[in-house]
Amino acid sequence: MKDVLKELERRRDMARMGGGQARIDAQHKKGKLTARERIDVFLDEGSFEEFDMYVEHRSTDFGMEKTKIAGDGVVTGWGTVNGRPVYLFAKDFTVFGGSLSEAHAEKVVKVQEMALRNRAPIVGLYDAGGARIQEGVAALGGYAEIFQRNVLASGVIPQISVIMGPCAGGDVYSPAMTDFIFMVRDTSYMFVTGPDVVKTVTNETVTAESLGGASVHTTKSSIADGAYDNDVEALLQMRRLVDLLPASNTAEIPEIECYQSVTDHDLSLDRLIPDNANKPYDIKELILKIADEGDFFEIQQSFAKNIVTGFGRVEGRTVGFVANQPMVLAGVLDSDASRKAARFVRFCDCFSIPIVTFVDVPGFLPGTAQEYGGLIKHGAKLLFAYAEATVPKITVITRKAYGGAYDVMASKHLRGDMNYAWPTAQIAVMGARGAVEIIYRKDIGDAEKIAAHTKAYEDRFLSPFVAAERGYVDEVIMPHSTRRRIARALRMLRNKDMPNPWKKHDNIPL
Ligand code: HXC
Repeated sequence: MKDVLKELERRRDMARMGGGQARIDAQHKKGKLTARERIDVFLDEGSFEEFDMYVEHRSTDFGMEKTKIAGDGVVTGWGTVNGRPVYLFAKDFTVFGGSLSEAHAEKVVKVQEMALRNRAPIVGLYDAGGARIQEGVAALGGYAEIFQRNVLASGVIPQISVIMGPCAGGDVYSPAMTDFIFMVRDTSYMFVTGPDVVKTVTNETVTAESLGGASVHTTKSSIADGAYDNDVEALLQMRRLVDLLPASNTAEIPEIECYQSVTDHDLSLDRLIPDNANKPYDIKELILKIADEGDFFEIQQSFAKNIVTGFGRVEGRTVGFVANQPMVLAGVLDSDASRKAARFVRFCDCFSIPIVTFVDVPGFLPGTAQEYGGLIKHGAKLLFAYAEATVPKITVITRKAYGGAYDVMASKHLRGDMNYAWPTAQIAVMGARGAVEIIYRKDIGDAEKIAAHTKAYEDRFLSPFVAAERGYVDEVIMPHSTRRRIARALRMLRNKDMPNPWKKHDNIPL
């Protein structure tokens, strides 16, 4: 008996060494943790249970039968984050560069299926060289099996990808189909084809960083939802994110103790809107004052900054915040902002997370760049996302709600549940100057007349009351009571039950 126990220990120890000490040292030298060290940081202490530790590849080409390493380049299993189950797989770069063989793919598929069956989030940690070159089509087949499970799990359990090293070729498409992608600055990169292939095909000279580093994917391509300075920070932030998310599309929203009153007035909010309607202010100040303890997990912080998206809690329960940001491009809706917010709204709707929307939007961005870039379809994505969402939707118009953007931003007409406006709200087809120049074109040379028309337009339309008189706004509220109003509305809407008509799936304007 003692001998078999010893043999088990020996085999476990060997598997835990992955590709051996030299490769572990090389990994550390690059500033990266190993797969198992990452899992230890991410999960609650001692909670990890590994599956398939002894799996080896079955390849016999290119002398591969002589090099078998237990685990085959990926560590899989489950554990807990603050007591809640999470499944995960972590690519082990020390074993064949984390590359994907048929056996490696089977391990990932197994953990994906367990996560889906048992309805808990799955997190993938990437640090790998793509398809195992020696395995050819078996590796390609393995990738497609993983992709298929990603799609089946989409909208059922949260799927999160963290890129912590190379992520190229076949490895990029699985993360791309998950809900969120995060990267580690300087040590991670993502691309379909690397710098050498780019040089051959397009004659462009690029580095891995400038082709697919964190700075590219968080600011230009919007592939990544955020980036962190090192492995430890990224993993700790992922714990924070997982904590905010329900386990599945049928699970309750996580609820934690809330120690901050919702009834206290925050008088500073009465002074948030500047006297001059064209002056910017920081909408994040409002979000931080509404969210419990000012705790806000922002998604896509560095991309399309004219709209802010992210998670927080109100009275201990998760909500998604979407807010136009007057500090950037006056909070205008453009293609990037529309796509960014649409994806976020759809995520919240998949997982029953109520959406709180703060509106201060001067309209859609005019111009050929936007129109040629498909603004109509991109704007429609956000419109579609809000309109199909059946989760509780609470909207607060703080200042401008002009034109089509008024409709889009969770208006009453898109089944907004509670639509509030601050007294500073201006709900109109457009701003006063533009409106007067169109309807009083004949008076354009007469400054006095134009001033009088502008004043009349401002008095009539640039207030929340025309909309309130029609019931498009449920109540005009004091800014200082916004947290209380939102908290009460969220309580009132807890049992909301609103199905959409049956359909196989919708046809969102992609
Ligand atoms: C087999 C691989 C491998 C791979 C790396 N290794 N990539 N083994 N298949 N794809 C092995 C190396 O042989 C080496 O083994 C170890 O991993 C570490 O690799 P290094 O090159 O020494 O590390 P580094 O210098 O850090 O470079 C990392 C790298 C590079 C940039 C990822 O290894 C690389 O370019 N690999 C190939 C990437 C690639 O073209 N993959 C195929 C993509 S096509 P030893 O024994 O020396 O430690 C694809 C198609 C799928 O994925 C499409 C499906 C839709």
